[in-house]
Amino acid sequence: LKFVCYSNDGVDEHMVWLIGLKNIFGRQLPNMPKEYIVRLVMDRSHKSVMVIRRNQVVGGITYRPYVRTNLTSIISTLEFCFDDVNASYVLFTDACFPGNTSQKFGEIAFCAITADEQVKGYGTRLMNHLKQHARDVDGLTHFLTYADNNAVGYFIKQGFTKEIHLERDRWQGYIKDYDGGILMECKIDPKLPYTD
Ligand code: ACO
Repeated sequence: LKFVCYSNDGVDEHMVWLIGLKNIFGRQLPNMPKEYIVRLVMDRSHKSVMVIRRNQVVGGITYRPYVRTNLTSIISTLEFCFDDVNASYVLFTDACFPGNTSQKFGEIAFCAITADEQVKGYGTRLMNHLKQHARDVDGLTHFLTYADNNAVGYFIKQGFTKEIHLERDRWQGYIKDYDGGILMECKIDPKLPYTD
């Protein structure tokens, strides 16, 4: 059993797995249009963490990392600094590049485990691998997702809440509104080892 994370990179093996994952999403998320699933799974700005067993995909999560720096906040800070002729270089850099001016969140688009392997713990292990990868490779601090009503219980067990703490200007207008679900958030612990 292994956990991998790939996007559409043209490598044959990765493409076979991504197509397998797309088929699982197609069956497990019947309310999602099939073309929309293919488009996002194959879109290069999305990544997919997959559970692979005996070279077959058992399930996965497709997400999009958002890591843009908030230029508006940097520009307004710059204007503030230049108003004050005594603003020191240190003040300037501290104010302009604090860690919180970037979006640093991931939007989970799809999440599913193939029918005959559900409720065996794969979904939990998958989410833990996603958190570890998103924090250590993408530098993300949070996840957002529109959870289907029947999957809210699963997301709560994975540490998601219905209260959104992430500042609105980091995510509003970026993530796709989706009528059929409930917006949920998960904060990624900055230090916790999520996988062994
Ligand atoms: N509702 C409530 N609790 C659930 C659900 C659910 N639908 N699914 C799993 N759980 C619980 C399990 O009972 C388990 O609880 P426990 O730790 O107390 O024993 C815990 O969540 C983790 O279970 P896993 O076995 O790790 O979960 P699984 O491998 O079944 O994966 C998943 C969960 C992905 C929801 C899977 O059941 C699935 O593919 N379902 C159909 C597709 C789906 O609904 N996907 C999410 C749609 S929303 C979106 O994609 C953004």
